[in-house]
Amino acid sequence: MTILALETSCDETAIAILRGRCRSGPPVGRTRAVASSKLLASEVASQIAEHAKYGGVVPEVASRNHLVHAPRLLERATRDAKIDISDVDAFAATSGPGLASSLMIGASIGKGLAIGFGKPYLAINHLEGHLLSPFFGDGEVTPNISLIVSGGHTMSILVRELGNYEIIGRTVDDAAGEAFDKVAKMLGLGYPGGPEIEKRARGGDPKRFDLPRSMHDSENFSFSGLKTAVRYLLPKIGVIPSAGHATREDRRPHIRSVGYPRPEPDQKSSRTSFASAQDYKLLSDLCASFQQAIVDVLVRKTIAAVQKHDVDLVTISGGVSCNQELRKQLRERCEREGLEFKTAEPWLCTDNAAMIAFAAMLKLERGFVSNVAQEIDPNFALA
Ligand code: KG4
Ligand code: ZN
Repeated sequence: MTILALETSCDETAIAILRGRCRSGPPVGRTRAVASSKLLASEVASQIAEHAKYGGVVPEVASRNHLVHAPRLLERATRDAKIDISDVDAFAATSGPGLASSLMIGASIGKGLAIGFGKPYLAINHLEGHLLSPFFGDGEVTPNISLIVSGGHTMSILVRELGNYEIIGRTVDDAAGEAFDKVAKMLGLGYPGGPEIEKRARGGDPKRFDLPRSMHDSENFSFSGLKTAVRYLLPKIGVIPSAGHATREDRRPHIRSVGYPRPEPDQKSSRTSFASAQDYKLLSDLCASFQQAIVDVLVRKTIAAVQKHDVDLVTISGGVSCNQELRKQLRERCEREGLEFKTAEPWLCTDNAAMIAFAAMLKLERGFVSNVAQEIDPNFALA
């Protein structure tokens, strides 16, 4: 069973080809989706450089770029996978949530290929792609509390089984990744802000600045107050918040293969308004304190959700889950609580099509197929 998936929900064009050996048959005990799979190709074309000059993602620029990148990614993916596109057994695409004009490009290509080759089409929820990514490879989806933390979403979800999800908490304002990006911008760091802040937080003192941990008694999240607290703190410690756009000296190749083979570590550096050694210590402590405030909230609420819903597995996905400090602290806390902890490799945590192909494979195994007439849904709900 070979699945080709497209992901174009925002500003990354991605195509992956996954070969699965789906095991069918009656479910054993609790219904489980079981599959083992091999990633034959995974391509991601980043548009960060195109949008950086506007200070954010411009939907029309994004969709035009998807149109430019998708055909060459398709060619590259089939070449890497050493298959002919007619060998693909099913086509899948992200159907939402995301930018309508971007979603439309990937979904139209996926549907077109499915119709042209007479194969099934699967419309996949982007969040379900993230949520299932910690199971990539082994494919056995067991009950868990899933924390999805990305640039657009912060959600904790009770996963009972594949396709059975209950949203426990979500952000009422900024997503965790959005807070990283906005604070990085204030500090004159590059975009995306998460890796920039994480890099500077290394060796910094996470206790130096006392930043708020909001919505203590709620299952929801809020990061806007934290961002504002940093903004008000800056002048007090002699730093002028940067008003400039996010800057990025993008030294990565424009198209990268992820997972197949593994990507090179990102070696880029970016400018900051902090010049002296003393300034760097200040920046490092500030980044560490900010990062710790986010990690504290995410860990505390995730563990509270686990205790309330009585599961023994925690999973984490989405771009922010690349953060090593978050992974480490959540893993340690899970170990102390006797819980299992699962996350995907970092290349699978940021937006990619391999996670969409994997979700499609698990769903196809359960007999799920979409109607090609199904429209994209920018607000596609997970549950
Ligand atoms: O999942 P993703 O690629 O796209 C969305 O679906 O939004 O997540 C992107 C977000 C960005 O906000 C970025 O700053 C954040 O993930 N991010 C990180 C790290 N790597 C990416 N945040 C904190 N630490 C990181 N290492
Ligand atoms: Zn995402």
